[in-house]
Amino acid sequence: MGQAEPATESSWQTPPTPGWPALRGLMPANVRIGSAVDGKLLATDEQYRSELAAQFNAVTAENAMKWVNLEPSPGVYDWSESDQVVKFAQANGQAVYGHTLLWHSSVPAWVSESWPRERIRELLRQHITTVVSRYRGKIWAWDVVNEVLAEDGSLRDSLWLRKLGPGYIADAFRWAHEADPDARLFINDYGTEGRGRKANGLLRLVRELRMAGVPVHGVGFQSHLRWDRAPEDATGNLRRFAALGVSVAITELDVRIQLPVDAEKLLDQALLYQHMLKACLAVSTCESVTLWGFTDTSSWISSHYPGFGAACVFDSDIRPKPAHEALVQELTSRRGTPPG
Ligand code: XIL
Repeated sequence: MGQAEPATESSWQTPPTPGWPALRGLMPANVRIGSAVDGKLLATDEQYRSELAAQFNAVTAENAMKWVNLEPSPGVYDWSESDQVVKFAQANGQAVYGHTLLWHSSVPAWVSESWPRERIRELLRQHITTVVSRYRGKIWAWDVVNEVLAEDGSLRDSLWLRKLGPGYIADAFRWAHEADPDARLFINDYGTEGRGRKANGLLRLVRELRMAGVPVHGVGFQSHLRWDRAPEDATGNLRRFAALGVSVAITELDVRIQLPVDAEKLLDQALLYQHMLKACLAVSTCESVTLWGFTDTSSWISSHYPGFGAACVFDSDIRPKPAHEALVQELTSRRGTPPG
């Protein structure tokens, strides 16, 4: 980033009221803008809370609703953090995107693969029913299954597939639908936002599920991107999913930069954020764009991608970066223009 202007006396005295536009006020009426929420910051950091409320009209619990966190020991649920997220959202006119009922990576350690198939199936049914019922009527959409595909587009090898066979996916959707018939039910994955083998596999799977009458209402595209690589034809890819009759959503957008950060990389990052927003807005059934965290302080990137960082649209002082400006510009330039 360019050097900051030295603070003059008058800028120093400027009250710290943010002077930048709010994304949520600029979005088209039928598309939400969301962010993943860090439970700890939500509980402790007033600046974080107020920017989250100001910018976004949807939230996703970054970790709080994952099975491993909700049910630390068998039958003992800890709802404290997830309830906090829902309460905050309700107080601030935000929809809650539930993430996620089933994921290979958030299975509590006490679940044992040595248990018989029926026990595991019943456990999964119980879990989905318990969580969805608790938040019935309060959750706009659920990621019912997360990351069920392998890189080649076949089903990922997981405890669920090994023990229950491929039917576990349809079961999960049916159980979720029974527990909250009004919630939108999504299948969510990464590396599927552009055309490719994995996206082809996802398309086949969604088509099969829909043909079998499984209540799959939407497809979520995580979109954890690198600053130097755009997905292959994201708009065309989203459109072919929409053509199956489902909604689509960008569910976990972030754009990581290989450190050190410089002005050019920030600009590339901004263009990629804008590109994904445009792709969503180009598809009439795109319901939302959710950022996977909005400030560089709380992003998961530095701990999961060594050497990368600065993936969000606000910096670690919660000041907007070029990526925020690019989203604002894109939205501003569309206001008043009929949807194309
Ligand atoms: C990540 C969180 O951001 C981290 O805090 C956590 O340690 C691991 O999970 N795909 C998903 C998200 O569906 O749930 C992941 O979130 C990021 C990748």
